[in-house]
Amino acid sequence: MTRVLLFTGKGGVGKTTAAAATAVRAARSGLKTLVVSTDTAHSLADALAVGVPADGPAEIEPGLHLYQVDTQRSLERQWGELRDYARGVFAELGLDEVTAEEITVLPGAEEVIALLELREQARTGRWDVIVVDCAPTAETLRLLALPEALDWHVNRLLPAGRRLLRTLSPLIRRVAMVSVPDDHVVGAGERLHRALMEVRGLLTGAGASVRLVLTPEAVVLAEARRTLTSLSLYGYRVDAVVANRVFPSGGADPWREGWVAAQARRLAEVGESFAPLPVHTVPYLDAEPVGRDALAAVAEAMYGGTDPFAPPAGEPPLRITPEGELVLALPLAEKGQVDLARKGDELIVTLGPYRRVLALPAALARRAVRDAALSDGRLRVRFESGGPDD
Ligand SMILES: Nc1ncnc2c1ncn2[C@@H]1O[C@H](COP(=O)(O)OP(=O)(O)OP(=O)(O)O)[C@@H](O)[C@H]1O
Ligand SMILES: [Mg+2]
Repeated sequence: MTRVLLFTGKGGVGKTTAAAATAVRAARSGLKTLVVSTDTAHSLADALAVGVPADGPAEIEPGLHLYQVDTQRSLERQWGELRDYARGVFAELGLDEVTAEEITVLPGAEEVIALLELREQARTGRWDVIVVDCAPTAETLRLLALPEALDWHVNRLLPAGRRLLRTLSPLIRRVAMVSVPDDHVVGAGERLHRALMEVRGLLTGAGASVRLVLTPEAVVLAEARRTLTSLSLYGYRVDAVVANRVFPSGGADPWREGWVAAQARRLAEVGESFAPLPVHTVPYLDAEPVGRDALAAVAEAMYGGTDPFAPPAGEPPLRITPEGELVLALPLAEKGQVDLARKGDELIVTLGPYRRVLALPAALARRAVRDAALSDGRLRVRFESGGPDD
């Protein structure tokens, strides 16, 4: 099974550095490694001090391959029908000359395309480890929740919606003055949706985990805590925290001493907040860690003697106990934030601005919710034991 490691965190904390360092370490310990970036700034290539590879994964040192996804090209190659349809609709709305470049300006589109390429790569079975340098916190989150949210809609719209569209087509055309997608386009839409579900399956699967990168500062920590909770809500497993830019103590002037003391307090909080997750610290270096050797040294500081590529341990974020209790890990969530609603065979969990629609497994789908409680960072939902109509 391919081990997939995702790095996320607030802007500028060191995600690219941590991801690149981890990839170098993987390759140098003999694992076939792919490092992928979902952002279009070429910072991954810059950190590794290599040129941007033209197309597809390129080997930059033995066993280490860099893939800077060309989103335009990927869109053209894989999703041409959808692009043509979108272009047609825009044209009918009087916005002609909409190009592929403009479509990928849609928020999140680039990351989605990069994640689709990631799935293609995972399917080749070529890689022992895939390291992903993700976009900053909020975007990645919304993005990762997308396939499931879409699933909910798509299952309702198709194929009933497809029949309906065909029937209403002339009417819609007259009222809305835009073309109804033909079967070809709907087919591509379904294919896209399936692909997104597979991406999600891969990223929430047993071989995948997220590492949260932070710096020991109050604002950064607060955001990392929220990210941990919402990642769990969506079923992503966080297996470690990377605390970057930690000031080394000793021989310090008063200015640095002040920082060392402040960071030590934050680091203690980090440990408490994220326990039992390991916290890997990386010192604030005297120069930017650019180039593979500098990154290998960062990885050494970050992981020490531990195995960064061991399968993620601990319980999965969502599980059903043998007693039929649904247990969803929501670390650091507070009681007032969580809201639960039942809709048909789905359970809708809302946590502040985030919402997850959980399709209940068949065994629970027809049983009413008896009660729910949040304790020890877990939401436990119990169901009535009775038959279909209670
Ligand atoms: N421990 C460190 N010591 C010194 N410099 C560092 C350290 N970690 C990262 N840097 C430098 O800080 C800068 C930002 O790091 P990086 O690009 O990894 O952050 P990022 O989280 O990926 O940023 P973005 O949100 O913009 O993608 C880079 O110039 C990097 O070389
Ligand atoms: Mg970056």
